[in-house]
Amino acid sequence: MKRKLFVPITITLASLLLIGLLIYSIQRHIAGRNFESVNDALSSIIEIQAYAFYNGCLSNNQTYNLVIQGEFAEANALVQKATDSFSLIDLAEIVEGKPPSDSFDIIMDGELLRIECPIRNDDKTAIVPNMIGVAIIQAQRLLNTVSAKDFRIDLAHGRKTTYGIPISANFTGNRLWDSIIIALLTGFVAIFIFQHFYRNANTFLDTRGLESIIYLFEQTERISASHSRNVAMLALFVGKNLGFRGKRLKDLYIAALLHDIGKIGIPNNILTKNGKLDPCEFVQMRQHPAISARILRSFKEFERLSPIVLYHHEREDGSGYPEGLTGRDIPFESKIIAVVDVFEALIGERPYRDPICPLSAFQKMRSMPLDQKIVSLLMDHYGELDGFRPPRWALSYSPWMLTS
Ligand SMILES: [Fe+2]
Repeated sequence: MKRKLFVPITITLASLLLIGLLIYSIQRHIAGRNFESVNDALSSIIEIQAYAFYNGCLSNNQTYNLVIQGEFAEANALVQKATDSFSLIDLAEIVEGKPPSDSFDIIMDGELLRIECPIRNDDKTAIVPNMIGVAIIQAQRLLNTVSAKDFRIDLAHGRKTTYGIPISANFTGNRLWDSIIIALLTGFVAIFIFQHFYRNANTFLDTRGLESIIYLFEQTERISASHSRNVAMLALFVGKNLGFRGKRLKDLYIAALLHDIGKIGIPNNILTKNGKLDPCEFVQMRQHPAISARILRSFKEFERLSPIVLYHHEREDGSGYPEGLTGRDIPFESKIIAVVDVFEALIGERPYRDPICPLSAFQKMRSMPLDQKIVSLLMDHYGELDGFRPPRWALSYSPWMLTS
């Protein structure tokens, strides 16, 4: 088995076991509650049968006298005739035995329930010694009248009722539905686990890959790397103030973090040049958004972000690059990155000029072909930036933040 399948399969099997145990526990709980009501019903029926057998067949002068006189055949015939109307009693007879001290004794004999009663006269002042009346009832028949569906006689493992009948919950009727429910629940759990596992695995692999590139990027060009980190935080700040949430906010953050990653493909002497770029160098420099987009396209998890980084140097009036898009044609996230990119560049240190203060930067940006609504939003909320705390997930995509 491939190692990467081991964890999700193990978790799925464990889930299957847990779901099975859960259903079994629920059934046990229901069966436990049902047991009490079945036990009450069984006890009532047994007592009714026993009292009826005792009072109707064995507690009268006629039977008493016949037994006392040794006329057992006649006495038995009398008792059997009297029990004909007792549909649950299979056999009734007078036999030798020690009379119970009370009205009856109930004894389980295999699957047979044996009711033993004393033989008395009408006013119950006299009792026949060493003889008893016995009625036999099949326990399963008795149970069938109460609950044939939910319980069965189980001599080996059954739970004993008040009168000693061992019964077990009867799950066979629900087995098909149980299996369907377990299969469906396990299917859902398996899909969830596999999706979650592979999504995490992909994200992990992609993130590791990107972290390697970012690390390399940081090592080769420190200003761009710290610039990207600042741009990412500013984009996150603007995105939150624009109402971005969840995946959209995370996408914006990652795109901002990686928007200049394409500079890794630009010669270092151009990136760090202390002065204006010549036309040839400028052409090379303008290729970095396309390289950034190409790098992101090579990571499945982040390929959807490639248009955002591709157009982060486009401008509202079409004066940007690489395609000279205007206004509505520029992705909104690219516009956000464009604004915070320019702002960060203006207030940040550069080899070829001194930084300017945020207020001056905003004034400058007012005359630039940037999305002025985003500029205004950044300006209006800029005072809140110091107190801004990034979401926890931002850290996992920002290897520098852990060490800075
Ligand atoms: Fe850029």
